[in-house]
Amino acid sequence: MATNGSNGHATGPAYNVIEHEYDVVVVGAGGSGLRAVVGCAEAGLRTACITKVFPTRSHTVAAQGGISASLGNMGQDDWRWHMYDTVKGSDWLGDQDSIEYLVRNAPAAVYELEHWGVPFSRTEEGKIYQRPFGGMTTHFGKGTAQRTCAAADRTGHAILHTLYGQSLRHSAEFFIEYFALDLIMEDGACHGVMAMCQEDGTIHRFRAHKTILATGGYGRAYFSCTSAHTCTGDGNAMVLRAGLPLQDMEFVQFHPTGIYGSGCLITEGSRGEGGYLTNSDGERFMERYAPSAKDLASRDVVSRSMTIEIREGRGVGKQSDHIHLHLEHLDPAILHERLPGISESARIFAGVDVTREPIPVLPTVHYNMGGIPTNFHGEVLTKVEGDPDKVVPGLMAVGEAACVSVHGANRLGSNSLIDLVVFGRATAQRCADTLKPGESLPPLSKEASEPALARLDRFRYASGGTPTAELRDKMQRTMQSNCAVFRTGDVLAEGHTLIHDVAKGLPDIHVTDKTMIWNTDLIETLEFDNLIGQAVVTMDSALNRTESRGAHAREDYPERDDANWMKHTLAFLDPATYEVRIDDRPVHAYTMSNEIEYIAPAKRVY
Ligand code: FUM
Repeated sequence: MATNGSNGHATGPAYNVIEHEYDVVVVGAGGSGLRAVVGCAEAGLRTACITKVFPTRSHTVAAQGGISASLGNMGQDDWRWHMYDTVKGSDWLGDQDSIEYLVRNAPAAVYELEHWGVPFSRTEEGKIYQRPFGGMTTHFGKGTAQRTCAAADRTGHAILHTLYGQSLRHSAEFFIEYFALDLIMEDGACHGVMAMCQEDGTIHRFRAHKTILATGGYGRAYFSCTSAHTCTGDGNAMVLRAGLPLQDMEFVQFHPTGIYGSGCLITEGSRGEGGYLTNSDGERFMERYAPSAKDLASRDVVSRSMTIEIREGRGVGKQSDHIHLHLEHLDPAILHERLPGISESARIFAGVDVTREPIPVLPTVHYNMGGIPTNFHGEVLTKVEGDPDKVVPGLMAVGEAACVSVHGANRLGSNSLIDLVVFGRATAQRCADTLKPGESLPPLSKEASEPALARLDRFRYASGGTPTAELRDKMQRTMQSNCAVFRTGDVLAEGHTLIHDVAKGLPDIHVTDKTMIWNTDLIETLEFDNLIGQAVVTMDSALNRTESRGAHAREDYPERDDANWMKHTLAFLDPATYEVRIDDRPVHAYTMSNEIEYIAPAKRVY
C-alpha cells in the first residue's frame, strides 16, 4: 500500500484508503465517548472521534431517570453508602476498587456537568433535584436515599447535548456517520481502527497511540429491548475478533418497565416519584417480594417478581401477559414537571393517558453489565499465563461497552450515566498522563489493516441464499426465549444449539446492494455479524455459570455460590468457527484506598 503521508491517500488492492494520524481515536460519541473526547482534547492531544450516528443521536440521549451521586441535596448522603449499595446491587461481582473510584468521583463529575450547562431540575432552594431510585439507600441499607440527579425525565438528552457542545469548544475532529470496521492489531497491541464513511463509501485508516472504544451495549441481540437500533456492540465485536475476551456477558439487565408491545422505556424515576405496579388482582405484589424496598427494589428483583406474577396467571390484559404501572394517583403537576417524557411515550406507544389509567409494562432488555474488561483507568485487560489483569497496549474502553467492573452482576438504575462521565474522564486523564501530544506513531505494516478489508469484502459480495433480516430475527428470538429473565440448564443448552446454528448460517448470507454509498444493507449485515458473536458468547457464558447471581437467575441453581463462582467470566471467540473458550479472572476483592474496608459478601435482603 503506497501512502502519501498523514491524512493523504494510500492505494490498496481494491480500496483507496485514506490515512489519518492522531494521538487518540475515540470510537463512539455517547456520554462516555464525548467525555473522553473533551478530556483528551483539553490536554492538547490530537483527538479524533468516529461515530456511526450524529453525536446527539447516540443512545445516551434516551437515558431518562437520572445520574447518581451522593450530593446530599435532598437528605443526608455519603459516598460510602453509595459504594455499599453498588457492591450489594452487583451481588458481589463488582470490582470494589473500581466501585470506590466511581462513587468517590461521582459528585465532582455531576458538578462539572452542571457547570458545563446541564439544565438539572431544581429544589426549592435551587439545588440539583435528586429522586429515589431502586437499591439506593442511606446508612448502609437502613434508609431510602434520594441520590439520582435528574433533568426531568430527559437526563441523558440534557447531558449528551451539553457534552457535545463542550467537545466543540476544543479542537477535536469529528468523523460523523463513519462506521468502524475493525481494530488494527499488531503484535498484541492496538494501533488504531479502520472505518468506512457511510456517505461516500470511502475507507479510512485511523492510526493512534490510543484507541478508546465507547461503542455502547448490544441490546439489539434481543427481540425486545429499550436500546436504539444502533446498539449493536460494534466495539465488543471488534475486541472478540482481535482474539481478546469479553467479560461477564451472561449478565443482561431486564428493565422492569418497558412499554408492553414496543419495549420503549418508562423510567424507574416513575416509581421513584411514587408510581407502583399491580397484578390482575389489583395487588401491589412487590410488597410480598421486597417488603422493605417494594417497587424500588433493584431491577433484577422487580423483573423476576413481575415474571413470576405473569407465569402464575396474575398478569393483566387479554392474554394475562403483562403488568400495570400506576401513575394516575400522582399530582398531574408533578407528572408534567418531572415525568413529561414518559407521559408522552405512554400516550404514543400505549395509547394511555397516565393521569387516568395505568401503563401496560413488561421486563425488557435494557443494559449489558458485561463487556470489554478494563481497569479503572479505562485500559483494556486480557488474561495471560500468570497475569489475569494484563493491559493490552494501545486499547481502552469505556461506558456500556466496557466492564470495569462497577456493576458486576446487576447495575443499579442511574449508575450508568455516572459510569459514563467518571470513567470517560478517567480514560482521558490516563491518555494525558501517558502520551505526549504529537509524538510520532510507530511504523505499521500494510498487512495490519487487511483483515478489516477482507471482512468488508466478504460481506459486501456475500451472495448466499439467506437475507440478513432472516438470520437477525432468528438470533433475536432465540436470545429472547432461551436467555431470558429466568434460565435453566436445559433451556440454555437448547439456546446454545440454536444460537450456534444461527452463526453457522453466516456463510450463506445475502447482501443485495454491492455499492458503497449509504449501503444500509451492508451496514446492517456488518452489525448483525457483530451481534451474533456477542449473542453466542452471552449464551455460552450463561450456560457455563451454574449459580444464580444478580441478573443471572438459574432456576436449577437458585443460590449464589460464592465459593465457586465469585469470579468474572472471560469468553474468547474463534471468529472462524464461533466456538467459545471460557476462562475466568478473580473479582477485585479489595478497595482503592484504605478509607473504606472491603465489603464482604452477605445475603441480600430487600
Ligand atoms: O429507568 C431509567 O430511567 C433508567 C435509568 C438507568 O438505566 O440508569
